[in-house]
Amino acid sequence: MDAVEVKKDIYWVGVKDWNLTEFHGYSTPYGSTYNSYLIIDDKITLVDGVKHYLSHENIARIKSKTDFSKIAYIVVNHVEMDHSGNVPELMKLAPQAKIITNMAGKAALEAHFDTTGWEYEIVKTGDSISIGKRTLEFMTTPMLHWPDSMMTYVKEDKLLLSNDGFGQHYAADTIWVKDMLPGVIMREAKSYYANILFPFGAQAEKALDTAGSLGLDIEMIAPSHGCIWSGKEEVNTILSAYAKWASGENDGKAVVVYDSMWGATATLAEAVASVFQDAGIPVVKHCLAVKNVSEVMVDFVDAKYICIGNPTLNNQLFPRVAGFVTYMRGLRPKNKVGFAFGSYGWKPGVIKEHIYNVFEELGWETIPPFEEKYTPKSDVVEKIIEHTKQMLAK
Ligand code: FEO
Repeated sequence: MDAVEVKKDIYWVGVKDWNLTEFHGYSTPYGSTYNSYLIIDDKITLVDGVKHYLSHENIARIKSKTDFSKIAYIVVNHVEMDHSGNVPELMKLAPQAKIITNMAGKAALEAHFDTTGWEYEIVKTGDSISIGKRTLEFMTTPMLHWPDSMMTYVKEDKLLLSNDGFGQHYAADTIWVKDMLPGVIMREAKSYYANILFPFGAQAEKALDTAGSLGLDIEMIAPSHGCIWSGKEEVNTILSAYAKWASGENDGKAVVVYDSMWGATATLAEAVASVFQDAGIPVVKHCLAVKNVSEVMVDFVDAKYICIGNPTLNNQLFPRVAGFVTYMRGLRPKNKVGFAFGSYGWKPGVIKEHIYNVFEELGWETIPPFEEKYTPKSDVVEKIIEHTKQMLAK
């Protein structure tokens, strides 16, 4: 695939990671892309690099449009290695280039790589640098999702190079959102938000506010993962979605997530789900034996009710449930109502200690846990149905 012009003299020179199936625990069945952008102006500027093992493709696309000796700046919006992994190689090819980043970015680059001899332009929110016909404006977005994260706005082209923000893990035969089925791309954008940015809703809201206060007029959002949002309609769609997700507002859905050893917790999960079905509340049920944690988290964005079922094993959480609870706890979803349930053999209490207490830590509303010894009979099924109905009053 050749470099693709996204605006006049601004090229996508990124790479597609077709074979990526997992991104630090996040299941990526459609692969991903690491988007890198080359701006041809008086001072030729590259924005973001790519993962180290696809560096050769990035370099070939850059070379198709310019000589490395002509590159004046390399903008590092974010130091996580999917975007900076090949920056040392790029700097070897363009040693005259200055790195544009923020203070946290410089510190992180120095912590990751041998940066001997690198020169920097350090920027912060509101700073701008002229590269000829164009002005680059910068907006730091700390903890969205690393301390060094920032976005670069190309003023004359009304183009926001947003790095991780507004991205999707999706390698497609296009770089454009408009070529994708809207439902597919929005689901992947939501999945990306749920699995990467969920803990940072406040920072996302602040970034959206800052973009507003800087008066950024955005006609195109080009993230560093997935496809590009082009035109006001697409831009407003993803900005509105982020505003909603960041606010913690949900659609009142229910998620039942569980695992089971001998079918007891599966029976309880079915009973719990039936309460929502009967109340006309959309519910999804995920068994962790067949679902990756990241698939489950997508549904958390729209959910109000979270029910987690665990079969106690050796007086502990079942390992896949423990893994899920750990993952969810780190992503810190808010504004939920939590319910822990499950079966045990000889000692109850594990779900209170390791699931219910996590709900409390996250500040969720809760109902008391429900545990049953061994296999639930029909009277227990009736009991958990009545018990679960307490959630509907929350
Ligand atoms: Fe796409 Fe935080 O790296």
